[in-house]
Amino acid sequence: MKLSTFALTSAIFVSRGTAQLSGSVGPSTTREHKVATKVCNVLDYGAKASKTSDVGPAIASAWAACKSGGQVYIPAGDYGMSTWVTLNGGTAVSINLDGIIYRTGTAGGNMIYVRHTTDLELYSSSSKGAVQGYGYTFHSGLSTSNHLSSMSNLSIQAGTYGPRILRLDDVTNFSVHDLALVDSPAFHFTMDTCTNGEVYNMMIRGGNEGGLDGIDIWGTNIHVHDVEVTNKDECVTVKSPAKNILVENVFCNWSGGCAIGSLGTETDISYVKYNNIYTQNANQMMIIKSNGGSGSFSNSEFSNFIGHSNAYTLDIDGNWAKSSAAGSGVLYSNLTFSSWKGTASNGVQRAPMQLLCPSAVPCHDIKISDFNIGTETGKSVLQKCANAYGSGAGCLNDAKSDFNSYNTVTKTMTNVAAYKETNMRGELTEGVGITASIAISTVPITFFPEATPAIARLGK
Ligand SMILES: *[C@@H]1O[C@H](CO)[C@@H](O)[C@H](O)[C@H]1NC(C)=O
Ligand SMILES: *[C@@H]1O[C@H](CO)[C@@H](O)[C@H](O)[C@H]1NC(C)=O
Ligand SMILES: *[C@@H]1O[C@H](CO)[C@@H](O)[C@H](O)[C@H]1NC(C)=O
Ligand SMILES: *[C@@H]1O[C@H](CO)[C@@H](O)[C@H](O)[C@H]1NC(C)=O
Repeated sequence: MKLSTFALTSAIFVSRGTAQLSGSVGPSTTREHKVATKVCNVLDYGAKASKTSDVGPAIASAWAACKSGGQVYIPAGDYGMSTWVTLNGGTAVSINLDGIIYRTGTAGGNMIYVRHTTDLELYSSSSKGAVQGYGYTFHSGLSTSNHLSSMSNLSIQAGTYGPRILRLDDVTNFSVHDLALVDSPAFHFTMDTCTNGEVYNMMIRGGNEGGLDGIDIWGTNIHVHDVEVTNKDECVTVKSPAKNILVENVFCNWSGGCAIGSLGTETDISYVKYNNIYTQNANQMMIIKSNGGSGSFSNSEFSNFIGHSNAYTLDIDGNWAKSSAAGSGVLYSNLTFSSWKGTASNGVQRAPMQLLCPSAVPCHDIKISDFNIGTETGKSVLQKCANAYGSGAGCLNDAKSDFNSYNTVTKTMTNVAAYKETNMRGELTEGVGITASIAISTVPITFFPEATPAIARLGK
Protein backbone atom coordinates (compact mmCIF):
# COMPACT_ATOMS: atom_id res chain seq x y z
CA MET A 1 0.00 0.00 0.00
CA LYS A 2 2.73 2.41 1.01
CA LEU A 3 4.62 1.84 -2.20
CA SER A 4 1.72 2.88 -4.34
CA THR A 5 1.35 6.04 -2.26
CA PHE A 6 4.96 6.93 -3.01
CA ALA A 7 4.52 6.17 -6.67
CA LEU A 8 1.53 8.46 -6.78
CA THR A 9 3.37 11.21 -4.95
CA SER A 10 6.17 11.29 -7.43
CA ALA A 11 3.95 10.88 -10.44
CA ILE A 12 1.20 13.35 -9.77
CA PHE A 13 3.19 16.20 -8.23
CA VAL A 14 0.65 16.85 -5.51
CA SER A 15 0.81 20.46 -4.57
CA ARG A 16 1.71 20.60 -0.88
CA GLY A 17 1.93 24.17 0.23
CA THR A 18 3.97 25.05 -2.79
CA ALA A 19 2.53 28.47 -3.61
CA GLN A 20 6.02 29.86 -4.15
CA LEU A 21 6.63 27.42 -6.96
CA SER A 22 5.45 28.17 -10.48
CA GLY A 23 4.34 24.64 -11.34
CA SER A 24 4.92 21.00 -10.68
CA VAL A 25 8.37 19.72 -9.81
CA GLY A 26 10.01 16.33 -10.09
CA PRO A 27 10.44 13.70 -12.78
CA SER A 28 7.70 13.34 -15.39
CA THR A 29 7.56 9.54 -15.19
CA THR A 30 7.76 7.26 -12.17
CA ARG A 31 10.61 5.09 -10.98
CA GLU A 32 8.45 2.06 -11.68
CA HIS A 33 7.94 3.14 -15.27
CA LYS A 34 11.67 3.56 -15.81
CA VAL A 35 12.49 0.18 -14.27
CA ALA A 36 9.82 -1.43 -16.44
CA THR A 37 11.46 0.12 -19.52
CA LYS A 38 15.01 -1.15 -18.92
CA VAL A 39 17.47 -1.70 -16.08
CA CYS A 40 21.19 -1.19 -16.63
CA ASN A 41 22.93 -2.74 -13.65
CA VAL A 42 26.51 -1.47 -13.43
CA LEU A 43 27.67 -4.97 -12.51
CA ASP A 44 26.71 -5.93 -16.07
CA TYR A 45 28.80 -3.06 -17.43
CA GLY A 46 32.10 -3.92 -15.81
CA ALA A 47 31.67 -2.69 -12.23
CA LYS A 48 33.03 -4.71 -9.32
CA ALA A 49 31.72 -4.22 -5.82
CA SER A 50 35.10 -3.44 -4.31
CA LYS A 51 36.54 -0.30 -2.75
CA THR A 52 39.61 -0.54 -4.96
CA SER A 53 37.66 -0.86 -8.20
CA ASP A 54 36.76 2.05 -10.47
CA VAL A 55 33.00 2.23 -10.91
CA GLY A 56 33.21 5.33 -13.14
CA PRO A 57 33.51 3.65 -16.57
CA ALA A 58 30.72 1.18 -15.69
CA ILE A 59 28.38 4.01 -14.68
CA ALA A 60 29.17 5.80 -17.95
CA SER A 61 28.44 2.64 -19.98
CA ALA A 62 25.25 1.85 -18.06
CA TRP A 63 24.12 5.45 -18.59
CA ALA A 64 24.80 5.23 -22.31
CA ALA A 65 22.65 2.09 -22.48
CA CYS A 66 19.76 3.41 -20.37
CA LYS A 67 19.81 7.17 -20.89
CA SER A 68 17.02 7.14 -23.44
CA GLY A 69 14.68 5.44 -20.95
CA GLY A 70 15.48 3.20 -18.02
CA GLN A 71 17.29 2.89 -14.75
CA VAL A 72 21.01 2.83 -14.05
CA TYR A 73 21.27 0.58 -11.02
CA ILE A 74 24.20 0.55 -8.61
CA PRO A 75 23.37 -2.28 -6.18
CA ALA A 76 24.30 -2.30 -2.51
CA GLY A 77 28.04 -2.75 -2.03
CA ASP A 78 31.21 -0.69 -1.83
CA TYR A 79 32.70 0.78 -5.01
CA GLY A 80 35.83 2.79 -5.59
CA MET A 81 35.69 5.64 -8.09
CA SER A 82 38.70 7.15 -9.76
CA THR A 83 37.19 8.19 -13.10
CA TRP A 84 34.59 10.95 -12.92
CA VAL A 85 31.48 10.69 -15.07
CA THR A 86 29.70 13.25 -17.23
CA LEU A 87 26.21 11.89 -17.87
CA ASN A 88 24.90 13.87 -20.79
CA GLY A 89 21.60 14.15 -22.62
CA GLY A 90 19.37 11.65 -20.83
CA THR A 91 15.59 11.41 -21.01
CA ALA A 92 13.27 9.44 -18.73
CA VAL A 93 16.18 7.97 -16.82
CA SER A 94 16.85 7.24 -13.18
CA ILE A 95 19.97 6.39 -11.24
CA ASN A 96 19.35 4.19 -8.23
CA LEU A 97 22.43 4.29 -6.03
CA ASP A 98 22.00 1.68 -3.32
CA GLY A 99 25.75 1.19 -3.02
CA ILE A 100 28.41 3.44 -1.55
CA ILE A 101 30.93 5.12 -3.83
CA TYR A 102 34.33 5.90 -2.34
CA ARG A 103 36.52 8.45 -4.08
CA THR A 104 39.90 7.09 -5.05
CA GLY A 105 40.79 9.48 -7.89
CA THR A 106 42.31 12.90 -7.40
CA ALA A 107 41.22 14.93 -10.44
CA GLY A 108 39.29 18.16 -9.99
CA GLY A 109 35.90 18.80 -11.62
CA ASN A 110 32.80 16.88 -10.61
CA MET A 111 32.63 13.24 -9.60
CA ILE A 112 29.07 12.92 -10.92
CA TYR A 113 28.04 15.53 -13.46
CA VAL A 114 24.60 15.27 -15.08
CA ARG A 115 23.96 17.64 -17.99
CA HIS A 116 21.20 18.46 -20.47
CA THR A 117 18.85 15.83 -19.12
CA THR A 118 15.08 15.70 -18.75
CA ASP A 119 12.95 13.53 -16.49
CA LEU A 120 15.69 12.38 -14.15
CA GLU A 121 15.45 10.71 -10.76
CA LEU A 122 18.68 10.26 -8.81
CA TYR A 123 18.06 8.45 -5.54
CA SER A 124 18.64 5.47 -3.32
CA SER A 125 15.77 3.03 -2.95
CA SER A 126 17.19 1.88 0.39
CA SER A 127 18.10 5.42 1.53
CA LYS A 128 21.56 3.94 2.14
CA GLY A 129 23.26 5.08 -1.02
CA ALA A 130 26.13 7.47 -0.45
CA VAL A 131 29.17 9.08 -1.96
CA GLN A 132 32.19 9.27 0.33
CA GLY A 133 34.42 12.03 -1.00
CA TYR A 134 37.27 11.67 1.52
CA GLY A 135 37.70 15.42 1.30
CA TYR A 136 39.89 15.47 4.38
CA THR A 137 42.76 14.08 2.35
CA PHE A 138 42.78 17.38 0.45
CA HIS A 139 41.83 19.67 3.29
CA SER A 140 44.27 18.36 5.84
CA GLY A 141 47.16 17.63 3.51
CA LEU A 142 47.76 14.42 5.42
CA SER A 143 49.17 11.41 3.67
CA THR A 144 46.24 9.29 2.69
CA SER A 145 47.86 5.92 3.25
CA ASN A 146 45.62 5.54 6.28
CA HIS A 147 42.52 4.72 4.27
CA LEU A 148 43.24 3.45 0.80
CA SER A 149 46.34 1.87 -0.62
CA SER A 150 45.54 3.21 -4.08
CA MET A 151 45.82 6.74 -2.75
CA SER A 152 48.90 6.09 -0.70
CA ASN A 153 51.25 8.74 -1.99
CA LEU A 154 49.43 11.79 -3.16
CA SER A 155 51.46 14.48 -1.41
CA ILE A 156 48.50 16.83 -1.53
CA GLN A 157 49.03 20.30 -0.14
CA ALA A 158 47.05 21.16 2.97
CA GLY A 159 44.12 23.46 2.30
CA THR A 160 43.56 22.43 -1.29
CA TYR A 161 40.24 21.37 -2.76
CA GLY A 162 39.48 18.44 -4.99
CA PRO A 163 36.42 17.55 -7.06
CA ARG A 164 32.84 18.41 -6.20
CA ILE A 165 30.63 15.40 -5.59
CA LEU A 166 27.48 16.18 -7.58
CA ARG A 167 26.58 18.79 -10.16
CA LEU A 168 23.43 19.04 -12.27
CA ASP A 169 23.57 21.43 -15.21
CA ASP A 170 20.55 22.20 -17.39
CA VAL A 171 18.48 19.38 -15.92
CA THR A 172 14.69 19.67 -16.17
CA ASN A 173 11.91 17.76 -14.38
CA PHE A 174 14.04 15.94 -11.88
CA SER A 175 14.39 14.79 -8.31
CA VAL A 176 17.36 13.92 -6.13
CA HIS A 177 16.56 12.17 -2.86
CA ASP A 178 17.40 9.68 -0.14
CA LEU A 179 21.16 10.03 -0.55
CA ALA A 180 24.08 10.90 1.70
CA LEU A 181 26.89 13.04 0.29
CA VAL A 182 29.83 12.92 2.66
CA ASP A 183 33.09 14.85 2.99
CA SER A 184 33.23 16.40 -0.44
CA PRO A 185 36.67 17.63 -1.48
CA ALA A 186 34.81 20.81 -2.65
CA PHE A 187 31.10 21.69 -3.03
CA HIS A 188 28.70 18.83 -2.28
CA PHE A 189 25.74 19.47 -4.57
CA THR A 190 25.24 22.22 -7.14
CA MET A 191 22.20 22.79 -9.34
CA ASP A 192 23.22 25.05 -12.21
CA THR A 193 20.41 26.42 -14.38
CA CYS A 194 18.00 23.63 -13.50
CA THR A 195 14.22 23.68 -13.79
CA ASN A 196 11.28 21.93 -12.10
CA GLY A 197 13.38 20.07 -9.54
CA GLU A 198 12.67 18.45 -6.20
CA VAL A 199 15.39 17.61 -3.68
CA TYR A 200 14.54 15.91 -0.39
CA ASN A 201 15.60 13.47 2.30
CA MET A 202 19.25 14.31 1.87
CA MET A 203 22.11 14.10 4.34
CA ILE A 204 25.14 16.22 3.60
CA ARG A 205 28.07 15.94 5.91
CA GLY A 206 31.17 17.96 5.10
CA GLY A 207 34.35 19.09 6.79
CA ASN A 208 34.48 22.03 9.15
CA GLU A 209 35.94 24.66 6.84
CA GLY A 210 34.90 27.08 4.09
CA GLY A 211 34.53 26.11 0.44
CA LEU A 212 32.54 22.95 1.13
CA ASP A 213 29.06 24.23 0.25
CA GLY A 214 26.07 22.00 0.99
CA ILE A 215 23.42 22.74 -1.65
CA ASP A 216 23.78 25.63 -4.11
CA ILE A 217 20.87 26.39 -6.43
CA TRP A 218 20.23 28.62 -9.38
CA GLY A 219 17.44 28.07 -11.87
CA THR A 220 13.66 28.06 -11.87
CA ASN A 221 10.95 26.26 -9.95
CA ILE A 222 12.91 24.13 -7.52
CA HIS A 223 11.68 22.70 -4.23
CA VAL A 224 14.30 21.65 -1.70
CA HIS A 225 12.88 20.16 1.47
CA ASP A 226 13.90 17.91 4.31
CA VAL A 227 17.66 18.12 4.11
CA GLU A 228 20.41 18.20 6.71
CA VAL A 229 23.75 19.88 6.16
CA THR A 230 26.90 19.90 8.30
CA ASN A 231 29.94 21.84 7.04
CA LYS A 232 31.28 25.29 7.68
CA ASP A 233 29.95 27.01 4.61
CA GLU A 234 26.70 27.36 2.66
CA CYS A 235 23.90 25.18 4.03
CA VAL A 236 21.22 25.68 1.35
CA THR A 237 21.98 28.74 -0.77
CA VAL A 238 20.29 30.42 -3.74
CA LYS A 239 22.42 32.16 -6.33
CA SER A 240 21.55 34.28 -9.37
CA PRO A 241 19.63 33.96 -11.59
CA ALA A 242 16.82 32.21 -9.75
CA LYS A 243 13.06 32.35 -9.57
CA ASN A 244 10.40 30.32 -7.75
CA ILE A 245 12.63 28.53 -5.29
CA LEU A 246 11.08 26.98 -2.18
CA VAL A 247 13.36 25.73 0.59
CA GLU A 248 11.67 24.04 3.54
CA ASN A 249 12.50 21.92 6.58
CA VAL A 250 16.24 22.34 6.62
CA PHE A 251 18.52 21.39 9.48
CA CYS A 252 21.84 23.19 9.39
CA ASN A 253 23.56 20.98 11.98
CA TRP A 254 26.78 22.95 12.55
CA SER A 255 27.18 24.68 9.23
CA GLY A 256 27.94 28.07 7.76
CA GLY A 257 24.21 28.72 7.47
CA CYS A 258 21.87 29.52 4.60
CA ALA A 259 22.43 32.41 2.20
CA ILE A 260 21.34 34.32 -0.83
CA GLY A 261 24.45 35.14 -2.85
CA SER A 262 26.98 36.29 -2.97
CA LEU A 263 25.32 38.51 -5.55
CA GLY A 264 27.14 40.28 -8.37
CA THR A 265 26.33 42.10 -11.57
CA GLU A 266 22.86 41.70 -13.11
CA THR A 267 21.47 39.85 -10.12
CA ASP A 268 18.02 38.53 -10.94
CA ILE A 269 16.37 36.65 -8.08
CA SER A 270 12.72 36.74 -7.09
CA TYR A 271 10.02 34.59 -5.50
CA VAL A 272 12.25 32.68 -3.15
CA LYS A 273 10.78 31.29 0.04
CA TYR A 274 12.62 29.73 2.96
CA ASN A 275 10.36 28.16 5.59
CA ASN A 276 11.15 26.03 8.67
CA ILE A 277 14.90 26.49 8.84
CA TYR A 278 16.71 25.23 11.94
CA THR A 279 20.26 26.43 12.40
CA GLN A 280 22.71 25.82 15.19
CA ASN A 281 26.34 26.80 15.57
CA ALA A 282 26.54 28.51 12.22
CA ASN A 283 27.96 31.78 11.03
CA GLN A 284 24.39 32.98 10.40
CA MET A 285 20.79 31.84 10.11
CA MET A 286 20.44 33.77 6.84
CA ILE A 287 22.76 36.16 5.06
CA ILE A 288 21.92 38.10 1.92
CA LYS A 289 25.32 39.14 0.67
CA SER A 290 26.67 41.44 -1.98
CA ASN A 291 29.32 44.06 -2.46
CA GLY A 292 28.73 46.30 -5.44
CA GLY A 293 26.92 44.46 -8.21
CA SER A 294 23.66 45.38 -9.91
CA GLY A 295 20.15 44.04 -10.54
CA SER A 296 17.74 43.01 -7.83
CA PHE A 297 16.58 40.49 -5.29
CA SER A 298 12.89 40.88 -4.51
CA ASN A 299 9.50 39.41 -3.57
CA SER A 300 10.81 36.81 -1.17
CA GLU A 301 9.95 35.43 2.25
CA PHE A 302 11.86 33.94 5.14
CA SER A 303 9.57 32.40 7.73
CA ASN A 304 9.81 30.11 10.75
CA PHE A 305 13.50 30.23 11.45
CA ILE A 306 14.70 28.65 14.70
CA GLY A 307 18.29 28.73 15.86
CA HIS A 308 20.83 29.07 18.61
CA SER A 309 24.56 29.58 19.14
CA ASN A 310 24.94 31.33 15.81
CA ALA A 311 27.33 34.26 15.31
CA TYR A 312 24.99 36.29 13.09
CA THR A 313 21.29 35.67 12.73
CA LEU A 314 19.53 37.80 10.10
CA ASP A 315 22.24 39.55 8.15
CA ILE A 316 21.68 41.65 5.06
CA ASP A 317 25.16 42.73 4.09
CA GLY A 318 25.53 45.05 1.12
CA ASN A 319 29.24 45.47 1.83
CA TRP A 320 30.14 41.85 2.14
CA ALA A 321 33.86 42.11 2.35
CA LYS A 322 34.79 38.86 0.71
CA SER A 323 33.93 39.73 -2.85
CA SER A 324 33.13 42.80 -4.86
CA ALA A 325 31.51 43.13 -8.25
CA ALA A 326 31.13 45.91 -10.81
CA GLY A 327 28.13 48.12 -10.12
CA SER A 328 26.92 50.32 -7.30
CA GLY A 329 24.84 47.69 -5.53
CA VAL A 330 22.06 45.12 -5.73
CA LEU A 331 18.57 46.44 -4.96
CA TYR A 332 16.75 44.47 -2.27
CA SER A 333 13.00 45.02 -2.05
CA ASN A 334 9.83 43.38 -0.77
CA LEU A 335 11.53 40.92 1.56
CA THR A 336 9.48 39.56 4.45
CA PHE A 337 10.98 37.99 7.56
CA SER A 338 8.45 36.47 9.96
CA SER A 339 8.52 34.23 12.99
CA TRP A 340 12.17 33.94 13.90
CA LYS A 341 13.05 32.58 17.30
CA GLY A 342 16.00 31.42 19.33
CA THR A 343 19.19 32.98 20.58
CA ALA A 344 22.38 34.39 19.12
CA SER A 345 25.75 33.71 20.73
CA ASN A 346 26.30 37.34 21.71
CA GLY A 347 23.64 39.85 20.73
CA VAL A 348 25.85 42.88 21.36
CA GLN A 349 29.02 41.73 19.70
CA ARG A 350 27.11 40.88 16.52
CA ALA A 351 23.63 42.30 16.01
CA PRO A 352 21.12 39.47 15.50
CA MET A 353 19.26 41.81 13.17
CA GLN A 354 21.57 43.54 10.77
CA LEU A 355 20.01 45.24 7.74
CA LEU A 356 22.89 46.97 5.99
CA CYS A 357 21.83 47.79 2.45
CA PRO A 358 23.99 49.34 -0.27
CA SER A 359 24.12 53.15 0.02
CA ALA A 360 23.63 53.74 -3.72
CA VAL A 361 20.47 51.59 -3.79
CA PRO A 362 18.79 51.65 -0.37
CA CYS A 363 16.55 48.63 0.16
CA HIS A 364 12.82 49.08 0.72
CA ASP A 365 9.69 47.16 1.68
CA ILE A 366 11.65 45.12 4.20
CA LYS A 367 8.99 43.67 6.50
CA ILE A 368 9.85 42.09 9.82
CA SER A 369 7.39 40.48 12.21
CA ASP A 370 7.51 38.19 15.21
CA PHE A 371 11.29 38.38 15.47
CA ASN A 372 12.27 36.93 18.86
CA ILE A 373 15.98 36.39 19.00
CA GLY A 374 17.57 36.59 22.42
CA THR A 375 21.20 36.24 23.40
CA GLU A 376 23.26 33.59 25.13
CA THR A 377 25.67 36.21 26.52
CA GLY A 378 24.35 39.26 28.38
CA LYS A 379 20.81 40.55 28.22
CA SER A 380 20.88 43.00 25.32
CA VAL A 381 20.71 42.56 21.59
CA LEU A 382 21.36 45.11 18.88
CA GLN A 383 19.51 46.00 15.73
CA LYS A 384 21.57 47.71 13.03
CA CYS A 385 20.19 49.35 9.93
CA ALA A 386 21.77 51.36 7.14
CA ASN A 387 20.06 52.49 3.93
CA ALA A 388 17.12 50.25 4.86
CA TYR A 389 13.42 51.10 4.63
CA GLY A 390 10.45 49.11 5.79
CA SER A 391 8.48 48.17 8.84
CA GLY A 392 8.59 46.06 11.94
CA ALA A 393 12.04 46.75 13.31
CA GLY A 394 13.02 49.79 15.33
CA CYS A 395 16.05 50.54 13.25
CA LEU A 396 14.28 50.49 9.85
CA ASN A 397 13.32 53.86 8.40
CA ASP A 398 9.56 53.74 7.78
CA ALA A 399 9.40 56.31 4.96
CA LYS A 400 7.35 55.04 2.03
CA SER A 401 9.24 56.94 -0.66
CA ASP A 402 12.41 59.00 -1.17
CA PHE A 403 14.69 56.19 -0.21
CA ASN A 404 17.88 58.10 0.47
CA SER A 405 21.01 56.64 1.92
CA TYR A 406 21.60 57.02 5.65
CA ASN A 407 24.33 56.05 8.08
CA THR A 408 24.09 53.05 10.36
CA VAL A 409 21.43 53.36 13.05
CA THR A 410 21.93 51.09 16.04
CA LYS A 411 19.16 50.27 18.51
CA THR A 412 19.80 48.41 21.72
CA MET A 413 17.03 46.18 22.99
CA THR A 414 17.57 45.56 26.70
CA ASN A 415 16.35 42.78 28.96
CA VAL A 416 15.64 40.55 26.03
CA ALA A 417 14.19 37.29 27.22
CA ALA A 418 16.43 34.39 26.29
CA TYR A 419 13.88 32.68 24.13
CA LYS A 420 14.04 28.96 24.68
CA GLU A 421 13.91 27.28 21.34
CA THR A 422 12.92 23.70 20.79
CA ASN A 423 16.23 21.98 20.24
CA MET A 424 16.65 19.29 17.65
CA ARG A 425 17.81 16.03 19.10
CA GLY A 426 21.33 14.91 18.28
CA GLU A 427 22.80 18.30 17.53
CA LEU A 428 26.49 18.37 16.87
CA THR A 429 28.41 20.03 19.65
CA GLU A 430 31.53 20.57 17.57
CA GLY A 431 32.44 20.56 13.90
CA VAL A 432 33.42 17.26 12.37
CA GLY A 433 36.88 18.63 11.60
CA ILE A 434 38.97 18.23 8.48
CA THR A 435 41.74 15.91 9.57
CA ALA A 436 39.97 12.58 9.76
CA SER A 437 37.54 10.69 7.61
CA ILE A 438 33.90 11.66 8.23
CA ALA A 439 31.50 8.84 8.95
CA ILE A 440 28.66 8.24 6.51
CA SER A 441 25.44 9.03 8.36
CA THR A 442 22.09 7.75 7.26
CA VAL A 443 19.36 9.99 5.93
CA PRO A 444 17.43 11.19 9.00
CA ILE A 445 13.66 11.05 9.41
CA THR A 446 13.24 14.55 10.80
CA PHE A 447 14.75 17.85 9.77
CA PHE A 448 12.81 20.46 11.74
CA PRO A 449 11.24 20.30 15.19
CA GLU A 450 7.72 18.88 15.01
CA ALA A 451 7.79 18.64 11.21
CA THR A 452 7.30 15.38 9.38
CA PRO A 453 9.08 15.14 6.03
CA ALA A 454 6.70 15.71 3.13
CA ILE A 455 7.73 12.41 1.59
CA ALA A 456 8.74 9.49 3.79
CA ARG A 457 12.26 8.14 3.53
CA LEU A 458 12.25 5.24 1.06
CA GLY A 459 14.41 2.91 3.19
CA LYS A 460 12.95 1.81 6.49
C1 LIG B 1 56.14 8.87 -2.49
O1 LIG B 1 56.57 9.93 -3.30
C2 LIG B 1 57.90 10.32 -3.06
C3 LIG B 1 58.19 11.58 -3.88
O2 LIG B 1 57.74 11.42 -5.19
C4 LIG B 1 58.86 9.16 -3.37
O3 LIG B 1 60.18 9.52 -3.09
C5 LIG B 1 58.47 7.97 -2.51
O4 LIG B 1 59.25 6.86 -2.85
C6 LIG B 1 56.99 7.63 -2.70
N1 LIG B 1 56.61 6.60 -1.74
C7 LIG B 1 55.87 5.54 -2.09
C8 LIG B 1 55.52 4.62 -0.98
O5 LIG B 1 55.48 5.36 -3.24
C1 LIG C 1 8.33 19.01 -17.49
O1 LIG C 1 7.12 18.77 -16.80
C2 LIG C 1 6.09 19.68 -17.16
C3 LIG C 1 4.88 19.45 -16.28
O2 LIG C 1 4.99 18.41 -15.44
C4 LIG C 1 5.74 19.49 -18.61
O3 LIG C 1 4.73 20.38 -18.97
C5 LIG C 1 6.98 19.75 -19.45
O4 LIG C 1 6.71 19.47 -20.79
C6 LIG C 1 8.14 18.89 -19.00
N1 LIG C 1 9.34 19.34 -19.67
C7 LIG C 1 10.03 18.56 -20.46
C8 LIG C 1 11.23 19.20 -21.09
O5 LIG C 1 9.76 17.39 -20.63
C1 LIG D 1 5.90 40.92 -2.46
O1 LIG D 1 6.34 39.57 -2.52
C2 LIG D 1 5.31 38.63 -2.33
C3 LIG D 1 5.96 37.24 -2.36
O2 LIG D 1 6.87 37.12 -1.31
C4 LIG D 1 4.29 38.76 -3.45
O3 LIG D 1 3.23 37.85 -3.21
C5 LIG D 1 3.77 40.16 -3.47
O4 LIG D 1 2.92 40.32 -4.57
C6 LIG D 1 4.91 41.16 -3.59
N1 LIG D 1 4.41 42.51 -3.49
C7 LIG D 1 4.60 43.39 -4.43
C8 LIG D 1 4.04 44.73 -4.17
O5 LIG D 1 5.21 43.13 -5.46
C1 LIG E 1 24.08 16.09 13.66
O1 LIG E 1 25.35 15.65 13.24
C2 LIG E 1 25.91 14.65 14.06
C3 LIG E 1 27.32 14.35 13.60
O2 LIG E 1 27.37 13.79 12.35
C4 LIG E 1 25.07 13.41 14.05
O3 LIG E 1 25.61 12.43 14.93
C5 LIG E 1 23.68 13.77 14.50
O4 LIG E 1 22.85 12.63 14.39
C6 LIG E 1 23.13 14.90 13.66
N1 LIG E 1 21.85 15.25 14.21
C7 LIG E 1 20.70 14.89 13.66
C8 LIG E 1 19.46 15.27 14.40
O5 LIG E 1 20.63 14.28 12.60
